[in-house]
Amino acid sequence: MQPADTPDLTRASQQDAHQHPDPAAQTPPESRDEPWQHAARGANLLGGDGTLAVTIFEEMTTLALSTGAINLGQGFPDQDGPQVMKDAAQAAINDGANQYAPGKGLPVLRQAIAAHQERFYGLTPDPEEGVIVTTGATEAIAAALLAFTGPGDEVITFEPFYDSYGAMISLTGATHVTVPLLVPDFLPDLGALAAAFTDRTKIILVNNPHNPTGTVFPRHILAEVVRLAELHDVVILTDEVYEHLTFGVPHIPVATLPGALDRTLTISSAGKTFSFTGWKIGWLSGPPALVAAVRTVKQFTTYSSGTPFQGAVALGLGLPDEFFTRAANTLAAKKDILGAGLKAAGFDVFDSQGTYFITVDTAPLGIDDAVTLARRLPQLVGVAAVPIPVFCHPEGAERTRSLLRFAFCKKVDLLKEAAHRLATLKDKL
Ligand SMILES: Cc1ncc(COP(=O)(O)O)c(C=O)c1O
Repeated sequence: MQPADTPDLTRASQQDAHQHPDPAAQTPPESRDEPWQHAARGANLLGGDGTLAVTIFEEMTTLALSTGAINLGQGFPDQDGPQVMKDAAQAAINDGANQYAPGKGLPVLRQAIAAHQERFYGLTPDPEEGVIVTTGATEAIAAALLAFTGPGDEVITFEPFYDSYGAMISLTGATHVTVPLLVPDFLPDLGALAAAFTDRTKIILVNNPHNPTGTVFPRHILAEVVRLAELHDVVILTDEVYEHLTFGVPHIPVATLPGALDRTLTISSAGKTFSFTGWKIGWLSGPPALVAAVRTVKQFTTYSSGTPFQGAVALGLGLPDEFFTRAANTLAAKKDILGAGLKAAGFDVFDSQGTYFITVDTAPLGIDDAVTLARRLPQLVGVAAVPIPVFCHPEGAERTRSLLRFAFCKKVDLLKEAAHRLATLKDKL
């Protein structure tokens, strides 16, 4: 084994690591890019020579299939959600719910979303004007970014970031400004966060609980986001698709913080909470004026979708508290099984407080290039994972180059087998 070439991931060295790329300096020769190339570049899918790469998720899935590896790369559950919801969707199809839903979503679902926000968080969005149903969280993110940002604007996200953020921000023509999340707790340096805001900032897009790191942001970090957003008059877009999947720590919706309500658009989705990622039913809620702006764009991206699933999701949102608690507890037990296997494999394992994901540092095994390891892992031990650098722009990719993400939203037996296989890694390197 080679000695570990551990990247310097300390807070002090990252104080000023946020990026404010000068749009003019950033663009040539890409300024002649087509919009789709901007999207690809924003999600790290375009090489310097302009070649289009497949996503790492696709690459790892293909590799897992060809090697028979257990695929812990992609974050989708291998078990369906509640039978009552499946029955409701089937009944809805048989009962004729097969034409366009209203553009802002079926009333029953908008009412259920509003009731859910009140029941869990004390928020009271107006189901008529303050809630829209979207084609997954993905459409809500896209429509909100398109509604409020364009060339010359800046959008802040933490880094690593979910890949659709980079793609969509680039597609709008805005500049993507990132604030690093730092090991071991994957929290931002507050000085770097403050320095990321300028008079060009239009949106701060927060993902909480956070994919890929598994961080659930504590109140003081969210409060600082709100304070800075107020100071700079910025819209807060918050992606809370993992809101119910936290492990022993509370999820605090940004919109509940003092000063946040009037400027916060909250996004969630049925995919993760109910293990129906293929239904693509998402939603966005917030102040009517902001929601109307997003709805205006959204009606020309899909208008509406998933009519028979919308009623079923309304039913799901009304399930008793035990359903939500059990879902989180089941997932926490799975995280522990995989986490133990990853420790036994010799990785440094970072605590995951929420989401489907757990992050490890490969450096203790003498590996400083997680992308290369991810490509070798299926052959070596029959498990596939995704490197964290793919969720970053170049500077962040360098900072996180030894980090790897594993998904634990899989059956217990499969996770035990993966843990067993991973335990052999040290001997195979
Ligand atoms: C942080 C985050 N946001 C949004 C999405 C997409 O959600 P949906 O499938 O509802 O579009 C995902 C899916 O992995 C995600 O991890």
